[in-house]
Amino acid sequence: MSKPLTLIRPLVQGLHAYVPGEQPKIKGLIKLNTNENPYPPSPKVLAAVRAAVDSRLRRYPNPTAANLRAQLAKLHGCRPENILVGNGSDEVLALAGRAFVEPMPKAKHDSPRAVMQYFTPSYSLYPVLAEIHGAAKNAVLLNPDFSLPSVAELKRDKEWNFQAALTFITTPNAPGGRGYPTAELEKICRAQKGVVVLDEAYVDFAKENALKLALTHPNVLVARTFSKAYSLCFQRVGYCVGAAGLIAALDKIRDSYNVNGLGQIAAEATLGDLKYYQANFKKIIATREWLDRELTQLGFRVLPSQANFILVRPPRLPAAEWLAKLRAKKILVRWFSASEVSDYLRITIGTPAEAAALIKAVRVIARSS
Ligand SMILES: Cc1ncc(COP(=O)(O)O)c(C=O)c1O
Repeated sequence: MSKPLTLIRPLVQGLHAYVPGEQPKIKGLIKLNTNENPYPPSPKVLAAVRAAVDSRLRRYPNPTAANLRAQLAKLHGCRPENILVGNGSDEVLALAGRAFVEPMPKAKHDSPRAVMQYFTPSYSLYPVLAEIHGAAKNAVLLNPDFSLPSVAELKRDKEWNFQAALTFITTPNAPGGRGYPTAELEKICRAQKGVVVLDEAYVDFAKENALKLALTHPNVLVARTFSKAYSLCFQRVGYCVGAAGLIAALDKIRDSYNVNGLGQIAAEATLGDLKYYQANFKKIIATREWLDRELTQLGFRVLPSQANFILVRPPRLPAAEWLAKLRAKKILVRWFSASEVSDYLRITIGTPAEAAALIKAVRVIARSS
């Protein structure tokens, strides 16, 4: 008998898919596991989306998100040609892999053209994107305190590849939370021969941003999202900024209608009401600082964060046990099994009331363990 036909590519059969944070439907759950914003979109955004739900849903949306790109260009002091909008910034990251990295075996395994490089721990999607694309993964450890190695340190690090076709740097980092100084990022960008994507998904909660690097260096893209700071995960809108040549390459390979119409409308309305969001950033940062102090007092090691989450090393019990005990109290946080972070929990910053409920639960668990 002939062998059964293999319908699925071996690469896909062997793939480890990305594991998103849970979205359970548990009544009364305090959900601090996926870095969503605890505050709703602005009333103006909700009104704009509601007003758009009419017979135009039968039409295709604007294929290039032209209005949104024009608004973003104004905001960032560049041209629409410097901006590509994606179905979430995840799509932008995937497009960068497809546009700049030669999959193996076309490129030999040791060829820098095939290399997708990133620090670890950082966003757990990068290795998945590399696997899907058939790229060579190069995961290089951050410093033990999750700070960014300097160029001199990277030069000493035999693992780091200055020729890599594509390098992702998450800043502020996830799940560590540290924001990296633009001056340090610039040195790395200058030293890299390939494209560097600075993934600034959490930058609105940080002290500085590196956007100017995307507008002054021919090999740098800055990726942003409306998901986190702008309360718009549901709508899936992200974008990147960079040299027109890089943006044109991404534009060539994206789906024709990659950004849904209601998402474009919601994002445009968001940019029209930035003050509302800036007030939310302040509230989230204040809650982050409060939580940092409270958890530190309770014996947690809290890493410095410039994001809307904190990475904490809990006392007494293993982190995975804390996860289970908090879940039993209807508080969901995130734990990653990867060895560099398995002693930690990542906690999204919620409302002050959610933060207070977390501290109350932590006190009870700490007393009984
Ligand atoms: C570092 C980082 N980059 C990008 C994203 C993706 O965001 P989006 O919702 O825009 O796809 C996330 C989401 O968790 C993230 O943590």
